[in-house]
Amino acid sequence: MLTKINHIGIAVTSLDDAIPFYRDALGMSFAGTEEVVEQKVRVAMLHVGESMIELLEPTSEDSPVARFIEKNGAGIHHIAYEVEDIEAAIATLLASGNRMIDEKPRHGAHGSSIAFIHPKSSKGVLTELCQAGH
Ligand code: CO
Repeated sequence: MLTKINHIGIAVTSLDDAIPFYRDALGMSFAGTEEVVEQKVRVAMLHVGESMIELLEPTSEDSPVARFIEKNGAGIHHIAYEVEDIEAAIATLLASGNRMIDEKPRHGAHGSSIAFIHPKSSKGVLTELCQAGH
């Protein structure tokens, strides 16, 4: 069902502050920034091998990422696994008794479709399923 780790999401207070560390100090290749209005975040993607690091900066105080930082501080926010068919993956998880935050896929960065598994089911790790956009 899962094909690889697509990205690890990291909550940051400022992309401008965080990007130089990942791009310059760690030498990751920077793939650009994008605002995901639906999730009230600005996102920066950086390539590392076949996976990516997704930096998430909240764009408003009621952004879920703003609430995460308030509660936990900046740091690892979620892990995203790539799937070939996100609707099938959601159906499989629901059929085996798991809870989804998103029972229907929604829009992620770069034309992807994403859905989050409820952390109660994924043992405390916020887990995203991600189907690449075409
Ligand atoms: Co993500």
